[in-house]
Order: sequence, then C-alpha cells, then structure tokens
Amino acid sequence: MMCFKETVTISCSCSCVARKLRDLGCHEFVEGWSQSHLSYSLHIVSLSFQLANSLSLSLSMELNRFAAAAAAVVVVVVVIWLGWRVLNWVWLTPKKLERCLRKQGLSGSSYRLLFGDLKDSTKITKEAISSPISFSQDIVPRVVPYTHYSVTNYGKNSFTWIGPKPRVTITDPELVKEILSKNFNFKKVKINPLARLLVPGLATYEDEQWVKHRKIINPAFHMEKLKHMLPAFDSSCSEMISKWENMVSMQGFCELDVWPSLQTLTSDVISRTAFGSSYEEGRRIFQLQAELAEHTIQILSSVYIPGWRFVPTKRNRRMKEIDNEAKASLRAIINRRLQAMKAGESSNEDLLGILLESNLREDQGNGINSKSVGSMSIDEVIEECKLFYLAGQETTSVLLVWTMVLLSRYPHWQQRAREEVLQVFGNNRPYFDGLNHLKVVSNYDFE
Ligand code: HEM
Repeated sequence: MMCFKETVTISCSCSCVARKLRDLGCHEFVEGWSQSHLSYSLHIVSLSFQLANSLSLSLSMELNRFAAAAAAVVVVVVVIWLGWRVLNWVWLTPKKLERCLRKQGLSGSSYRLLFGDLKDSTKITKEAISSPISFSQDIVPRVVPYTHYSVTNYGKNSFTWIGPKPRVTITDPELVKEILSKNFNFKKVKINPLARLLVPGLATYEDEQWVKHRKIINPAFHMEKLKHMLPAFDSSCSEMISKWENMVSMQGFCELDVWPSLQTLTSDVISRTAFGSSYEEGRRIFQLQAELAEHTIQILSSVYIPGWRFVPTKRNRRMKEIDNEAKASLRAIINRRLQAMKAGESSNEDLLGILLESNLREDQGNGINSKSVGSMSIDEVIEECKLFYLAGQETTSVLLVWTMVLLSRYPHWQQRAREEVLQVFGNNRPYFDGLNHLKVVSNYDFE
C-alpha cells in the first residue's frame, strides 16, 4: 500500500522526486529520468519499492530519534517532578510548617531531615519502659515519655516531629475543647497505611463518612442494649475469678500476675458482647488482631516511605496475611448472621447484631430519628468489628489493672468499695439496676 502511494506521487511531481531520489542515493534512476519516462516504467516500479523502503527506513529512524528524545524528556520531567515532591516532603513543607507554628507562638524542636524526633522519641521511650513503673500517681513520664519530654522542654502547648510531620501537643483544656468541637477544621492525622490495617473504620473517618458510620453504630452503645450484655460480663468475670480461686485454694495464697488474666478477661468480654454465639471464632480474630498490633507498634517507630507497604518484606506479608484471615473469618460470621436475620431469627443482643440491624434500617431508608444516611457495605461492617476489638480490649484491661494497683495502694478505698458492693448486691450476682447504686466504685472509674 505504501509502495503504491509513493509510485503515484513520483509520476505526479517528477523534478521534486528526482531531487528527493538523489538525496536518498538513487542516482541510477535520476540519470535515466531525462531520456524517457516510458522506458523507465518498469524500473520505476522496482525503484519505487527501493524508495519506499528508503523512505520508511528514514522515517522509522526519524521516529526512533523522536521517540528517544521524547522518552528522555519524559524521564527528565518525571525525575524533576519526583525530586521536587521528595524535597517538598522531607524538607520544604516541614520547614514551612515549622515557621508557621513558631509564628503562632508555639515552641518546639527544630525539624531534622526525614526522621524529625523519631530517633529521640524511640530512645526516650525505650529508656522509660526499661525500668519497673513506680506505683505513684505521676505516671505521665512512664506512659507517654516523649510527650512529657516535649511539654517539659517546650511548654504546655508545643510541637515535636514524627518524621516529617509536626505533632502539636495541646494541654490547655479550653483549647482541647475547641479543637474537639471543630473536628471539621482539625482533621485527623493521616496514619501509616499499614497501621490502617489495625486502626480501621470510624476512628479514621472524617465528615460525612464519619457521621454515617457513627449514626449506624450509635445504637450499639445505648444503655438499653448494654443491659443485655451484662450476662456476658458476668460469665467472663466468673470464669476468671474461679481460676484465681483454684490457684489460691492449693496453698491458701498465691502470687499472681493479674495483667494477662485481665487481658484475657476483656478479650472474652468483647468476643461475647460483639459476636454472641460466634464468640469462639471471634476469639481467634482477636488473637490475630493482637499480633497485628505488635507489628503495628514496630512500624510506627520508623518513618513511612511512600509505597513501602507494597514491598513484600516479611513483616508486610505477615500483616497482610493476618488481615486477610481476620477479614475472611469476620465475613463468614457476618454472612451467617445475615442469613439468620433473613430467616427471621432475632439477633440484636450483641454488637454485631445491633450493628447489622441498624445498618439494615438505613438500607431500607428508615434511619432512627432522622432521614437515612445510607447503609454500610459488608467490608465496612468488617472494619467496624475490627475497631470494636481494638478500641475496647486493651483500653479496658489497662484501666482494670491500674484500678487494682491503686486499690492495693490505698487499702481504705478498697475496703469502702468492698463494703459498698456487698451492701448493694449481698451474695447475689450483679444486676443492672444495682450498678447505678455503686457510687464509690463509679467514682474510681471516673478517676
Ligand atoms: C477504658 C476504656 C476506654 C477508653 C479509655 C477509651 C478511649 C477512647 C478514646 C480516647 C477515643 C477517641 C479516639 C480518637 O478519636 O482519636 C475512643 C474512641 C472510640 N472508642 Fe473507646 N475507649 C474505651 C473503651 C471502649 C470500648 C469498650 C469500646 C467498644 C467496644 C470503644 C469503642 C470506641 C469507638 C468505636 C471509638 C471511635 C469513636 C468515633 O470516632 O466516633 N471504646 N475511645
């Protein structure tokens, strides 16, 4: 096709073609051109092939040169663009933010390239947790050592650096209140995408997405619903106390590390209250989450390089495996529950049941109190179930351990709490209305 076109062009504009052919080195053809067009007709056809080849060769060489030049330009532009972004990320933006923060009257550490204060904070935290905690009320240097260091050195409202990101610490209660009430202005910190595997759902959402999820989840925390969970609390506590009683009964006394027992207790309570009858399966999911938490703590002590999560390191692979296994188990529990609900079985006694019912109501456009906000997908429900565990397990076990520590330190308060519990419940099992009469015990929780 190409050859044919070139032949036609030759017959139309002879002199121009002759010049072109000479340029291309087809001297034989050019010499014969002036004698007779006809005598060269066959020759023309054969030479037209040569010409076409030469033209296409020259064209393809031109194109190759052009492509190479274009590729070089693209590479240079991409390298400059990437370089600019990296420079912005590790230096220009942090320095600009530092200037802004100082202008607003905050003081803090000077930004150091890429790592910020990470090395110092890891070192100070390691030192703080290397010795036993002192049983005094002054727990801040031990619990949040770097925040304590920052406040001591730079003031009550100050900033430090988590890698290239500034972290502003606010301790003035009025400012804290203002910030929390303007959550549409003060956005949540964008966390390491790998840490998102552990801290999913509501805790990371903003704006409409947060409102939607919060609305669907809220019924799970209504007092009326929590009432139904009391038997689950009771079963888990009774199991733990019986174990302790057995240990004591051998010699009449025993030394016991209560921390692991209370961790098991809160895991069990959350498994039972979140998944009801599927609580054994829930337990396995929570073991996986505990392992994921260990990995997350490790990755949060170093700078996150964008894209690192895609690198198949041993830790990254394990974190994704855990996440996939936990999600698959949760999906199976949820699907079974949805089928049971479709079959008309009521299942609104545990967190998952309450969540799914609330979600279903939104799906059907019957949101509670106001118009529907739309429902969550199964994947989103899975994320919220994972958050229940994370938000409820460690927090509550730490609270219980510290309460026991303080009760041991102040035996007269222990005595008052015991008397109050015995006065309200006697030898009965705890019941919901009785809990409202526990004034001294409630005060401990508020403390
Ligand atoms: C002593 C126990 C607890 C403490 C000290 C505690 C503390 C907190 C704090 C400080 C937040 C705010 C986190 C943030 O937005 O950055 C939070 C959020 C949350 N907590 Fe708790 N929590 C406790 C128990 C629980 C329990 C038992 C559950 C449920 C099973 C739970 C579920 C949640 C949820 C779902 C959120 C996200 C709320 C939202 O973003 O709207 N927490 N908790």
